[in-house]
Amino acid sequence: MLKTILVTGGAGFIGSNFIRFVLTEKPDATVINLDLLTYAGSLENLRDLPSADRYTFVKGDICEQEKVANILRERNVDTIVNFAAESHVDRSIHSPGVFIQTNIFGTFSLLEAARKVWLEENKQGQQDVRFHHISTDEVYGSLEPGDPAFQESNPYSPNSPYAASKASSDHLVNAYVHTYGLPATITNCSNNYGPYQFPEKLIPLIILNAVDGKPLPVYGDGKQVRDWLYVEDHCKAIWAVLEKGMVGESYNIGGENQPTNLEIIHTICSILDEKIPNLPYTPHKQLITFVTDRPGHDRRYAMNIDKIRTELGWTPDNELRKGLYATVEWYLKNKEWIKRIHEKPTYQDWLDENYSKRG
Ligand code: NAD
Ligand code: DAU
Repeated sequence: MLKTILVTGGAGFIGSNFIRFVLTEKPDATVINLDLLTYAGSLENLRDLPSADRYTFVKGDICEQEKVANILRERNVDTIVNFAAESHVDRSIHSPGVFIQTNIFGTFSLLEAARKVWLEENKQGQQDVRFHHISTDEVYGSLEPGDPAFQESNPYSPNSPYAASKASSDHLVNAYVHTYGLPATITNCSNNYGPYQFPEKLIPLIILNAVDGKPLPVYGDGKQVRDWLYVEDHCKAIWAVLEKGMVGESYNIGGENQPTNLEIIHTICSILDEKIPNLPYTPHKQLITFVTDRPGHDRRYAMNIDKIRTELGWTPDNELRKGLYATVEWYLKNKEWIKRIHEKPTYQDWLDENYSKRG
């Protein structure tokens, strides 16, 4: 295991950070990146990869079962890490169909390819292969103030079409463990932030709008709580599960940083005030604009990470302000990346649609 890794969705935010982490830190591993390059995926995210000889890109859809099966056969893949998904909650509210197709049917298709090639053709077992599925804290639903943080034993109670599609995919993974003995694990992670995140998500959107002097849209009252994790910490947690995780188990991953959205936005504004004090929109918090809330907006997420900490020895390294500082610096430095992402027609379509709906 962990010699030849098929990463799906490796041109997206977390997948590209994971590939960079593996190629930098794990010299024995080879990576094949299967990505459809949807609006969210970009080879720009992988321009500076450290080791091209241990890396191959294949453009393709995880729903194409035979294509995936051929990659598993031809490349002797022993590990699959499934990041590929539609990942944005707002989009799942506007257009749920593609979330069902990619997140549910796509995961099913990957599981089938792995079952056929690994279990039926090659008769491989727990020591030989591993299917790792990347999931989210949103499968647990929403917490009220004062509720204890989500544990792995919490019942699933997803609220958005995105969360429901991820919950379904988790159930399929577990069904393949129990029914066919497929050696699989799942991680449920909280909100990630850091370099290469597509600027539809809160943190990069706020940074880029603030730099441009555009409104900083706050949904509803802005008192919703998310549990923020620096993406590099997520990559390390996934590796810990690949190396030491138990087949059939799920592991919660989180940052133990739980500010309100307004607090996060204020922190970003203060970092920008400090780093670029001479802009006309300083203090940047004057750009904060309250807009119509997201329908069915989950109020609070918080992850209990005792299991991964005690059983696998993983713990987050980056405290929130430090991670936000690094993220702001990355977006200020990487103007060419931002320009290329902004030029993508799908980005402009999303901006028009989102702002026309929220007013
Ligand atoms: P992203 O939207 O940035 O990237 C998704 C990638 O998947 C893109 O490169 C896209 O081209 C690719 N993709 C989409 N459909 C595909 C298909 N049918 N076949 C092949 N590739 C396809 O997403 P992200 O934020 O990097 O999230 C990655 C994974 O982590 C997702 O499964 C998401 O549910 C999960 N997750 C994300 C977060 C977060 O905060 N971003 C937190 C917890 C879990
Ligand atoms: O919790 C994990 C999830 O985190 C992942 O599974 C998802 O893939 C990922 O997109 C993220 O979902 P969120 O909906 O929490 O992330 P988003 O960045 O869209 O929003 C974070 C919070 O900020 C949420 O409460 C909505 C709010 N928000 C978001 C945007 C884009 C705003 O107030 N204004 C905005 O413009």
